[in-house]
Amino acid sequence: MNVSFYGHTRQYHGIKSEIDANIAKVLESGQYVMGPMLKQFEAEFAAYTGKKHAIGVGNGTDAISLTIMALGLRPGDEIITHANTFFATAEAIWIAGGKAVLVDCDERTRCIDPQAVAAAITPRTKAIIPVHLYGQCAPMREIRKLADQHRLFVIEDNAQAIEARGDDFRIGELSDAVTTSFIIQKNLGTFGDGGAVYTDNATIDAGVRKLRNHGSSARDHHSFGFNSRLDDIHAGILSAKLKHIGEWTEKRRQWAARYDAGLKGVDAIVLPYARPGYRHVYHLYEIETRDAADRNPLLAYLNGKGIDAKTHYSIPIHKQEGYPWGKDAEIRGSLANAEKNAASCISLPIYAELTAEEVDCVIDAVRSWKR
Ligand SMILES: Cc1ncc(COP(=O)(O)O)c(C=O)c1O
Repeated sequence: MNVSFYGHTRQYHGIKSEIDANIAKVLESGQYVMGPMLKQFEAEFAAYTGKKHAIGVGNGTDAISLTIMALGLRPGDEIITHANTFFATAEAIWIAGGKAVLVDCDERTRCIDPQAVAAAITPRTKAIIPVHLYGQCAPMREIRKLADQHRLFVIEDNAQAIEARGDDFRIGELSDAVTTSFIIQKNLGTFGDGGAVYTDNATIDAGVRKLRNHGSSARDHHSFGFNSRLDDIHAGILSAKLKHIGEWTEKRRQWAARYDAGLKGVDAIVLPYARPGYRHVYHLYEIETRDAADRNPLLAYLNGKGIDAKTHYSIPIHKQEGYPWGKDAEIRGSLANAEKNAASCISLPIYAELTAEEVDCVIDAVRSWKR
């Protein structure tokens, strides 16, 4: 049996009539950019997230960079994030003109390590960007405390954890703004690129709205900005999908529990760690080999058996070729956990539309691997 990494077409077929209806509505409206469907989706998404403002933008990278720009950076301002996030988190800092300060992750959750953040703060630090990596919330209480002590902004990179929760906090509750990506493979993804910023902060809202539209909030009036809007067709697709995100998330969590039970006791690997009381939404079901030398052989074995396992992410930001490309960047402290994560990670297929047979097939394949 082949098990693919993504279930995009299965998901489409599951709610085809709802998606097709919204696409047709947009096409018939004659308004495809900054039209009524974008307005509708922004209102729905703001209500869903519990925030006053939701702004649709071109992608999740721009969601971060435009938010940073809306805060107003001065040259040399530092923004702290962790080295094992997806590359775009750091990239967005550079696009916005900031200095990316890379710190380590927690050994078990692989989210940012608050102690590493505390040690990296300087008088030039402007903001912290915790990432809810793999679908689990970063330690927001600890990050908020540091931000309050040092008067810093916090931007949550929530490209991977729609529907996740902390033990006693919601995403968006302990930060200035949250960014997300709607690229195809995200838990809430469209059939292309898209992103959003959501916030209660009126300055960020107004700033991002202008920046995404050539620095314009009124016809013929411009300041510096970009062309980064969420197209109405994508807004329509997302509006249809948003109604199903709860049930899809439950399914992901069910498959994760099946993996947890089926893979328990396999010595060569470490299973994902979900913090007690946190609601992990398993954007990725990321296992790690105890010995980094086992990663590539196990990955090749799974791929050879028709299981499309992948790595997220096998090269940390500071190890990318050419780093830092003349951009302002600094590593603060050891990055040993991030490097171990990169060397040993394997992501197993996980999405709502998997079948029990497919999940069991993956479990059997992992269990049958011999070093
Ligand atoms: C953690 C994280 N941040 C940022 C992004 C960037 O989003 P996009 O690809 O939509 O620009 C992604 C995903 O692609 C991501 O996983």
